[in-house]
Amino acid sequence: MNSGSRNIFEKFLQMNPELGRIKVALEPSYLPQRLPHREKEMERIAQILSPALNGIRPSNILIFGKPGVGKTSTMRFIERELTNIINSKYDTKVKVININCGINDNSYSILATMGNALLYSWEEKFPFTGWPMDKLFQSVLEKIENFGGIIILILDEVDKLIKKSGDSVLYQLLRINEVSSNGKISIIGISNDLKFMDYLDPRVKSRLQEETIVFHPYNATEIFDILKDRVIFAGIYDLIDEPVLRLAAAIGAQENGDARRAIDLLRVAYEISVIKKSNKITEECIYEARDRLEQDVFREIISSLPLHNKVVLYSISILKNFKGNGKITSGECYELYGKAIKKIGLSPLTNRRVNDLISELDKMGIISSEVQSFGRYGRTTVIQLNYDPDLIIKLLEADEAMSSLATIKPDQKPLF
Ligand SMILES: Nc1ncnc2c1ncn2[C@@H]1O[C@H](COP(=O)(O)OP(=O)(O)O)[C@@H](O)[C@H]1O
Ligand SMILES: [Mg+2]
Repeated sequence: MNSGSRNIFEKFLQMNPELGRIKVALEPSYLPQRLPHREKEMERIAQILSPALNGIRPSNILIFGKPGVGKTSTMRFIERELTNIINSKYDTKVKVININCGINDNSYSILATMGNALLYSWEEKFPFTGWPMDKLFQSVLEKIENFGGIIILILDEVDKLIKKSGDSVLYQLLRINEVSSNGKISIIGISNDLKFMDYLDPRVKSRLQEETIVFHPYNATEIFDILKDRVIFAGIYDLIDEPVLRLAAAIGAQENGDARRAIDLLRVAYEISVIKKSNKITEECIYEARDRLEQDVFREIISSLPLHNKVVLYSISILKNFKGNGKITSGECYELYGKAIKKIGLSPLTNRRVNDLISELDKMGIISSEVQSFGRYGRTTVIQLNYDPDLIIKLLEADEAMSSLATIKPDQKPLF
C-alpha cells in the first residue's frame, strides 16, 4: 500500500467543526426552537388536541398551505411538545404517530408503520410487504385496542397517498372509532394541495374535515424574522448585516412566501462567502446564491421535460446557435426536430402536435413565440429563445437518450 501518500480525507479533517454546526442549522430538516409567525396556528392546533390529555378523542384536522409555509415544522413542533407532556404525565395514554405519505404512499405501508409504532420493543416488526391487507388491518386494530388510548396520527403530504392509492385506508382508519371499543384515533392530514379533496369519498371528506386550518404564505417581514432567528441559531449573526438580511428576505418572499427557499438562499450565500473567504455574507453573495438557485430550478425544469419536448427545445437551441440573430421559424424547428427524433430512433409527431409543444415551451417562459406575416411567404410562427442556447444544449445532452444528437445540424441555408 502507498502508506507514504496522504489520505484523501485528511484535509477535510482539518476543516472548522463550526462549519458543520452552522450548516445543520441552515438545512431544511432542522427544527428550530421556535417558529415565528406560526404562534396562532400552533395555539389553535394545541387547543384542538388538548382534550386527548383528558382521555377524550380530539377532532380530526386538515391543514392546508403552499410549500414552505411551515406546515411540517409546526406539526413536528407540536409533536415534540405533546410527547414531552405525555411523558411527564404517567397516567396519559396518548401516542403521536407521524407518517410522511410522500415516502409511505400506499395503504400497506401506512398500516405497517402504524403497527410498528405501537409495538413493544421485544415484539417482532411488521414485514414491509407480504401480508394480506385484512390480516394487516386486523393486527394493527388489535395493537390499537391493546394500547387502549388515543392515537394522534399525523399524515403529512396526505395528498400524495390519496393520488397514489386512493382513500380506502383513510376510510378504514376513520372507522376504527366505530369498531374499536377501546382505542381511539384522531387524524391530522397535511396537504399542499386543496384539490385532493375532490378525490375523497364524501364520507371520508366530512369526517376528516372536522377542523380545517389554512397556513398563509409569509410576507417579506415575516420571512425576515424567520431568517434572523435562523442566523442567530446558526451562530452567524455577526456575519450578515441587517440590510443584507432584508435583501435575502425580500428575494425569498418573491417565491410564494416560501420560507424553505429563503433559507436555501441564505445557506448558499453563506457557502459562497466561505469559498470567497469573505468575512461577511455580502449583497453579492446573496445575488450569486439567487442565480445559482435559479439555475438549479431551471436545470430541474429542463431535465423533467418529456422527450419530444426536449427534442423540440434542442432543435430551437441548435437553430439559435446556427442563425445567431436570424429568425427561427416553427417550420425550420419542425424540420430539425424530425431529423433529430429519427436519429434517436423514434417516429416524429405531427406538425400540429409539435406546434402544441412549442406553445407549451412558450407558456413555461423558456421561449417566446409569435405569429408573424412575411408577405409572399405567408404567416409563420417565429420563435425566440429566452435562455443561453449552450446551457440548454449542455443540459439536454446530459439525457442519455439525447446524447447521440451531438453532431446534428440544420439542413439548408437560413431562409431569413
Ligand atoms: N415560522 C417559521 N419559523 C422558522 N422556520 C420556519 C418557519 N416556517 C418554515 N420554516 C422553515 O422553512 C422550511 C420549510 O418549512 P416546512 O415546515 O417544511 O414547510 P411545509 O411543510 O409547509 O412545506 C423548514 O426549514 C422550516 O424550518
Ligand atoms: Mg411539508
